[in-house]
Amino acid sequence: MPSTVWLVAALLGHGALGVEAVNRLHGLGIRRSWVDALTAACGAAMIGLPVVAAWQLLSAGSLGAALETYGWVAIAALVLIAVSRGLLRWDPHRDSSANRPTSVETLDLAAALGEAATGPPLVRAASRLPGNQLLRVAVEHRVIGLERLPAAWQDLRIAHLTDLHMSGRLGIDYFHALVKRVNAWEPDFVFLTGDLVEHTPQLEWVAPVFGALRPRVAGHFILGNHDEKVDCPALRRQLVAAGLVDAGTTPVRYGPPYEGLVICGDERPWFPTVASPPRGIATLTVCLAHTPDRFGSAVAAGIDLVLAGHCHGGQVCFPLVGPLLCPSRHGVRYAAGTFRRGRTVMHVGRGTGSLFPLRYGCPPELSLITLRTEQSVATA
Ligand SMILES: [Fe+2]
Repeated sequence: MPSTVWLVAALLGHGALGVEAVNRLHGLGIRRSWVDALTAACGAAMIGLPVVAAWQLLSAGSLGAALETYGWVAIAALVLIAVSRGLLRWDPHRDSSANRPTSVETLDLAAALGEAATGPPLVRAASRLPGNQLLRVAVEHRVIGLERLPAAWQDLRIAHLTDLHMSGRLGIDYFHALVKRVNAWEPDFVFLTGDLVEHTPQLEWVAPVFGALRPRVAGHFILGNHDEKVDCPALRRQLVAAGLVDAGTTPVRYGPPYEGLVICGDERPWFPTVASPPRGIATLTVCLAHTPDRFGSAVAAGIDLVLAGHCHGGQVCFPLVGPLLCPSRHGVRYAAGTFRRGRTVMHVGRGTGSLFPLRYGCPPELSLITLRTEQSVATA
């Protein structure tokens, strides 16, 4: 009979393996139906195996050779996962200066909107759970220094919204409030990095919500993997009709006063077609990517700034353990925050919507980013 400590460690390892498998699965560009089927299989294994083990223990008094071997594998995996997560504290690509917002204000939309903030009663009930940050949006102001930012563009203001997941779980007033806050900051550009609309009825929200954005220059968007759940061409058309530019299919090279500013999109691996880059020399290139897994290719392409989302910061972050869910081929490495490799900077937002109505240690994020020259940030 294995000891209680061994059983608990094996159970934790089994759970950690299951979560890691699901996380990496959702970082792949395979067909949605495959992702759903394999996720269901992982869930069944996560629940089923402990049930089988408990039955085996109670009926035979031992786990048997196969389950015991798996138990050791799970314990080894638990140790490896814990060590790798611990090592991420010293990730050399984490931009320590930009990871500390210059200021954070909380937009308490539960207090401001009441019941209008949420849709179904179950979501409303969940939003009232103690400590649930579902409706407490962190408006984070941060300064990002870019090596090639022309001095004339100093203090360029960017509002970054990602992963709104408009599905009816949160009410339309929640999204109106976000847009109102963005407009109050008077950004030069607004960038939306995917997972915008998840359910077909919410396509009707596109015009009133996104059409109300008032960037000084322009707003650009890309789509994410959850946008595949609706009619994507229709969604693109509606977003364009709302005044936004589709960076996924239409990269733009600006003329004066932002001569050579290129805004492009990278929707891979879910939307594999890549639009041709605009002609002319790029003074500065901003790439909107849904998944931070595109960081490596952005570095190779010499992109200056990447904005991404997709991982929701983990949605639930435990002390010591860190982010729980993070659909990425890199595990939790790029769950949220700002990263720098060479001259390429990537900011990964935690998202302003949610897949499920729980957020702990990981409030929704609305990023208000001020771009400055790297020199001025270094000397500040
Ligand atoms: Fe998302």
